[in-house]
Amino acid sequence: MKGRPLLPFAIIAIVGIVVMISLSFIGLNQREAMQADEEGEEEVTEIEDPVAAGEELVQTSCIGCHGGDLSGGAGPALTSLEGQYTQEEITDIVVNGIGSMPSVNDNEVEADAIAQYLLSISE
Ligand code: HEC
Repeated sequence: MKGRPLLPFAIIAIVGIVVMISLSFIGLNQREAMQADEEGEEEVTEIEDPVAAGEELVQTSCIGCHGGDLSGGAGPALTSLEGQYTQEEITDIVVNGIGSMPSVNDNEVEADAIAQYLLSISE
């Protein structure tokens, strides 16, 4: 009978430890899920309407050097690329740069949308 009164405490202690361990596992899972979410937001992997998305991207990242109407500025005009460059080549230029032009966007999906837009407006 000597150890008896201790038993409830032992049970409480064990239950407490089990609860703590499971809570920390749940916390870890949630953190991983949150991290995955954040990464998903940053990395664009699919674009529904590439031409429309490409137009917006061009407005924010190309007109500074190629002119507001893309007729040229620090860089050459981008209004008649059809026949000069393929979609793949324009994507490559946006991702890697060309000559004195730096890499502008290293997301291939966005770069490809830009290329599709530029070819769609090509005269
Ligand atoms: C920092 C200025 C700058 C930005 C921003 C920039 N470019 Fe350029 N781009 C240039 C320069 C300068 C050249 C000429 C490079 C050379 O031939 O040495 C060029 C050349 C090009 C060419 C080749 C044109 C030709 O006639 O050979 C393409 C295509 C192009 N840029 C597309 C883009 C696109 C698309 C964007 C936006 C995603 C963009 N550029 C953003 C400066 C820029």
